[in-house]
Amino acid sequence: MERTVAVLVGSLRKDSFNRKTALALTRLAPANLKLGIVEIRGLTLYDQDHDAGPPVCWVEFRDAIRPADAVLFVTPEYNRSVPGVLKNAIDVGSRPYGHSVWAGKPAAIVSVSPGAMGGFGANHHLRQSLTFLDMPVLQQPEAYIGNAAALFDDKGEIANEGTRAFMTKFMAAFAAWIEKIRG
Ligand code: FNR
Repeated sequence: MERTVAVLVGSLRKDSFNRKTALALTRLAPANLKLGIVEIRGLTLYDQDHDAGPPVCWVEFRDAIRPADAVLFVTPEYNRSVPGVLKNAIDVGSRPYGHSVWAGKPAAIVSVSPGAMGGFGANHHLRQSLTFLDMPVLQQPEAYIGNAAALFDDKGEIANEGTRAFMTKFMAAFAAWIEKIRG
């Protein structure tokens, strides 16, 4: 069955390793998964005073997430946690209270870093938020992608066969997880 997956990238950087990874995962995913990046760059900072009259950027973002069958987070680690831009997007989607766009959607997390630890801290801080948001998160395989500066060829493809095989396996596991939750 065809499933739509909203992809959130936790970096705004033009040459972001995380964005490149998200695009590579899109190409390696099983054919029934339709992945599309939902941009978070234009979101203003969440402010509870605007719950009753939200800015257009919040409304459009929530409308883009709501129909998705699942959500894939691809994120760097900033100071051992989730970058503020991604946390802001999560907060925007979670409100007004009782109208979260996240609840019940199966999710998966891929953290990507040029460092050796593959964004472990961000990955697990994000899991904490997603647990509260009632998003069942894929447990295995975990995806901590380290040494990202050496990961891509000049076309943006994953240069390393082992990593490509792992990402293919990861996306197959996510597809199975989506069916299990949505089934
Ligand atoms: C970083 N970086 C970083 N890396 C890491 O592995 N653990 C960390 O805690 C941090 N902290 C951190 C804070 C801030 C403010 C910045 C700007 C960067 C480095 C980070 O992994 C690197 O810049 C990546 O390239 C960011 O991901 P993108 O933009 O390539 O997707």
